[in-house]
Order: sequence, then C-alpha cells, then structure tokens
Amino acid sequence: MATISDPRERPIAVFDSGVGGLTVMHELLVHLPAEDYIYLGDTARFPYGERTPDELATFSLEIAEELLARNAKLLVVACNSATSAALPVLQQRMRQTTLGVEVLGVVRPEAIQAVATTNNGRIGLLATNATVASGAYDEAIHAADPHVTLVSVAAQELAPLIQSGSTFDDKVVELVRGYIEPLREARVDTVILGCTHYPLLSPILQRMLGRDVRIVTSGVALARQVEHVLGARDLANPNRSEGSYRFLSTGDPEAFAAVGTRFLQLPLGPVEQVTLHEGVIA
Ligand code: DGL
Repeated sequence: MATISDPRERPIAVFDSGVGGLTVMHELLVHLPAEDYIYLGDTARFPYGERTPDELATFSLEIAEELLARNAKLLVVACNSATSAALPVLQQRMRQTTLGVEVLGVVRPEAIQAVATTNNGRIGLLATNATVASGAYDEAIHAADPHVTLVSVAAQELAPLIQSGSTFDDKVVELVRGYIEPLREARVDTVILGCTHYPLLSPILQRMLGRDVRIVTSGVALARQVEHVLGARDLANPNRSEGSYRFLSTGDPEAFAAVGTRFLQLPLGPVEQVTLHEGVIA
C-alpha cells in the first residue's frame, strides 16, 4: 500500500466490534474535522461482549495489523469490550514495533470524566459482560479517586438489540428499566454508558434516571484525548479543510451502511468489505 510521506497527513484509525463505535466516530468527525479517518467495524464477529479476553486480544491485534497497513498515524479503540480486555496487549505490541503508533481506548477518558462529574461519589456503569468482567472501569475509577464507589451492571442484551435496528418499543423500555434498577437503588448520581451502542438510549435512560443524574459517554472525552496526543506528538493534520472518512466492515457492507447512518448521524458513503489476516506487526 502507498505510504504518505508527511506523517501528519496519515489517517486516524478507529475500530469497533460493529457499528456502535460510529457514535465515537461521530464525535471525532465533529471535534477534529480536518483529520482523515478510517473506521473498521468487525461486524462478522459481533458481539464482542460475549467473547473471552484472549479472543478480544487476537481480534484487536488482527485489526491493528490491517489498519497499520493502511498507514494509520494513531489507533483508537472505540469499543469498550476490546478496550477493557485488550488495550494493554495492543499498547505493548505497538511499543515493540518500529512504527511508534499510539493506541487510545475509551475506558480511561470516560472514567476520568465520570469521577470529575460525580458529587456524591457513587457512579453507575452499564456495559457488556466482557467489559464488566474485566474490571477495567473499577481499576480506572479507583486510580482516579479511590473513594468513589462504582456499581456495575452487565446489560448484555442491549447492544445486539440496538444493532439489529429494531425500534425502541415497550420491550426495550422494560429491559432498560430492569438494568438500571440496581443503579437507582444505589442512588448513583452519574452513569457511565460503557458500551458504544448505548448513547442511542440516552433519552430513555435520562427520563428513567431523572434529570439530576448525569450521563457520561466516551465520545467527547476521547476526542479531547486524541487532540492532546496529536498536539503533543505534532501529528495534527495541517489542512484547514474538512478531511475524508471511509469505512471497512468484516461482515456484509450493505447491512453496515443500512444500520450505520443511525449511529454516525452523518452521510456514510460506500463501505468496503475486508478480510482480516493473522500477522506480525513489524
Ligand atoms: N462495541 C461493543 C462495546 O462497546 C458493542 C457491544 C458488543 O460488541 O458486544 O462493548
């Protein structure tokens, strides 16, 4: 693949288990419009929330391989399950390469934002089984403030339901009501949406939790961290015009495009189908 000589003009790569990470991509496109982006959705292996840490590490390394081959200057793991299970492995692998590409994940920026938001020191987390089981949010929250309590709920059924494109009917509302019950009982004042799909449920959640409870999503906090890294490493794209963005999917590209627009809230354009290979990042 052709290389771009000015590293600042290389694209930022973003990946997720499917279309959910497009909620994160949305914030990047809005906050850092001059950058070029490549997004990869591993829809063929969705959902990640039921995968083991080893599987998630393998998938993440395969995706990183593909995105580095496409000249990525920065790797953003938009998926909470992959970040929770595989970020340290990915970061370690990247440090061993000659490319010096930084890897950012969604857990830390979101945890820091939640700690800064809470007043009563009680935070709730809604996430997949894989994310909750990893303990990554507990670790990140306690690193930011050991006096804060985290109440975690594995809401495994939600992401597949949202990704299926089904409308939010009474069944979805009742499901969400059940999941947030432990958070209401614990009287949390801040709720982390620890899964890429959940921002689509924000209106339902806000109504149920009440207006005094603050909802934290990963997109904005992550976009700020991306901006910091680009600035610190002198990697910000010097172009003043809007950059380009394109999409890769391991599954059916038409299905990706059909569901994806709802998540991206911007025109999506054509989606390229991609086959991932095991490989060694040089
Ligand atoms: N991107 C995934 C996450 O944030 C969505 C859910 C899944 O793949 O199970 O965890």
